[in-house]
Amino acid sequence: MITIAEIKRRAANGTQKYSWEDLKRFRAEDEAKQPERFKKQFDEFRAEKILSRCGVLPIHQNCHVDNYEILTSGHRKAANFAKWYIDNFYLNNGTGFIFGGKPGTGKNHLAAAICNALMEDGYSCLIITVNELMQKLRACYRSGSDATEDQFIKTMIDFDLLVLDEVGLQRNSDAERLALNQIIDQRLCRFKPTGMLTNLPAGSEDPSEPTMNSVLGVRIMDRMRTNGGKWISFEWQSYRK
Ligand SMILES: Nc1ncnc2c1ncn2[C@@H]1O[C@H](COP(=O)(O)OP(=O)(O)OP(=O)(O)O)[C@@H](O)[C@H]1O
Ligand SMILES: [Mg+2]
Repeated sequence: MITIAEIKRRAANGTQKYSWEDLKRFRAEDEAKQPERFKKQFDEFRAEKILSRCGVLPIHQNCHVDNYEILTSGHRKAANFAKWYIDNFYLNNGTGFIFGGKPGTGKNHLAAAICNALMEDGYSCLIITVNELMQKLRACYRSGSDATEDQFIKTMIDFDLLVLDEVGLQRNSDAERLALNQIIDQRLCRFKPTGMLTNLPAGSEDPSEPTMNSVLGVRIMDRMRTNGGKWISFEWQSYRK
């Protein structure tokens, strides 16, 4: 059977008009999407209520792959990854990423570029620092809070893409590690990817140096590698003047 996209394309080209049958199919398809739309709106409303925001912060709303300047082969590799990630997101079944490296190299820029492009396509995304996430989670324990801990975790799981920023700068208590574990694990069980941005190296020969393995634990790091999750290195000079 000819697809709706093809019918629309032919109609736009003037090579075929919409038939009565086509119009009936458009309507049926639209009605079938209603519950999905309501759920999406409900999720967004709940996220706004619990977090007071969604998506990316205003400072990163103009970040795109196209305005990421390519100055080294490292920049190119990182930009190509972001483009690939956006283009293939519709096939994504839990493949996350870690952008690790020096400050000012564009980790937030490219993560925001990914989220901005995906949100334009109707996906729900959130970039949040681990500190902000923990602070909002702790607020759920206060009496009179808008949400319970479970509702908060559920909100974190519902985003199509969740990006945890400044991993390694958190207090790193057992409770924090447990909450992160729970969020990443439960997202993965639902085939939802998680991204991470960090200045920490993956591991180190020096046991006193903080690393992603020591801060998050090997279990979470192992989860992040599931389904081909990639570590992208940002090891060039800061773009900040
Ligand atoms: N290659 C680039 N082309 C254009 N703008 C860039 C590039 N790299 C970084 N920037 C810009 O520089 C600023 C700092 O980048 P960003 O916040 O993404 O750095 P970061 O790697 O997340 O740093 P940190 O580790 O300190 O958080 C941002 O305004 C970003 O848009
Ligand atoms: Mg950053």
